[in-house]
Amino acid sequence: MAISDALFPDGFLWGAATSAYQIEGAWDQDGKGESIWDRFAHTPGKISNNDTGDVACDHYHRWAEDIELMKWLGLKAYRFSIAWPRVLPNGRGKINQAGLDFYDRLVDGLLQAGITPMITLFHWDLPQALQEEGGFSARSTAEAFVEYTGVATRRLGDRVRHWITHNEPSVYSFVGHVMGSHAPGLSDPYLALRVAHHLLLSHGWSIPVIRANCPGAEIGLAMNVNFNQPASPSLYDHRAWQYGYGMWTRWFLDPLYGRHYPVDLVEHAIEKQMLPAEGTDFVAEGDLTAIATPCDFLGVNYYTRQLARDQDIPPEQNLAPTVFQAPKNDRDWQEMDDWEVYPDGLFNVLAWLYFEYQPKAFHITESGASWSDSPDATGRVRDNRRIDFLQQHFAAARRAIQIGVPLKGYFVWSLMDNLEWGYGFSQRFGLIWVDFATQQRIIKDSGHWYRRVIATNGIA
Ligand code: FCB
Repeated sequence: MAISDALFPDGFLWGAATSAYQIEGAWDQDGKGESIWDRFAHTPGKISNNDTGDVACDHYHRWAEDIELMKWLGLKAYRFSIAWPRVLPNGRGKINQAGLDFYDRLVDGLLQAGITPMITLFHWDLPQALQEEGGFSARSTAEAFVEYTGVATRRLGDRVRHWITHNEPSVYSFVGHVMGSHAPGLSDPYLALRVAHHLLLSHGWSIPVIRANCPGAEIGLAMNVNFNQPASPSLYDHRAWQYGYGMWTRWFLDPLYGRHYPVDLVEHAIEKQMLPAEGTDFVAEGDLTAIATPCDFLGVNYYTRQLARDQDIPPEQNLAPTVFQAPKNDRDWQEMDDWEVYPDGLFNVLAWLYFEYQPKAFHITESGASWSDSPDATGRVRDNRRIDFLQQHFAAARRAIQIGVPLKGYFVWSLMDNLEWGYGFSQRFGLIWVDFATQQRIIKDSGHWYRRVIATNGIA
């Protein structure tokens, strides 16, 4: 690779990402309301080891120290989320000024450190009060989201240009409302599709609010788009891929980019009784126009490759796999649910999304890996696998830019080890190691390496 091939465009936003529930702690302090993740984590058996985000990384109190670490890394940008119930404890109505003050200080601190803030408005911690009214299955929650967006952007829109409405609406809808392993822990496919619709609707409705409060705003939504292939040449596996992957991607992206919900998927959902015979009966007049309100970038969260396998495949159709995964050694698979390390998938996903939907720009709003390397006797965290992972994925991103994909930034998940939702503290994604008992932070080798990447705007 020639030196110039290793460089990224000027102004490329090298960043790191976190979310409120995963790092802040202070779950009930200074007037914060309860979120569905507080409720979920406080229900025994929901999170592994019964871990909670009550304290997490105590970032609510240690934000200044954490900004110092970001500054040392040389981050150009930092993606974090606002905890909605910290700002509006009941989801709407009474504003908690102390909560807003926290984000105000954080934003000012970042700007003083020369770091561009990128704010996610909803990274899953819905106010419990709104869940009592049906959560996002109710249209009124989409309205409450617009009110919350107004409150947040009126306070911060003079200094924050980059806004993400929702993080991974498909994960929120399906893992929270079909699989039940995320808050609110429900299991009702029709409800999940209502939730998905109201997430999309609230995204569209909030765009003009953000633009009004933040001239020059760059607005996007972060989708999780892993790479997915049929596991074998069997038509059964192709069908599993078409519908399975489709529900997690096209179901959301098609309406966002001005198409209706995909016809093949609507038919499939009716057949599987996820939808009534009338189909998407929760869509009101004007909804699809609102959902397709143009925004400025698409955020892509990329972690791995997954293979689509039809579970009910008849034996004679059970053909040999055509897709070969890397040999299973500890270098090629993340600890997180055996996620395969598959950098080419990032290139493929970006190329597909650009060809298919033509977003004006992209940010990789999350990409990273879980390995639990901890400090050695000298206190150093030698996470070489994470360095390899990042290097290969940065190279894939660079290749996408070379074929014309307008990729503007790359946010490593995550700035620091944190609470990995249902897995609690058992998964460590950070560039910074955290001792959850003492709150000591240690920059891992990957953090030292990333610092050099950023400083040279290229693949070190
Ligand atoms: C994504 C989430 C993020 C983090 C990573 C590992 O689905 O958006 O909060 O948990 O997975």
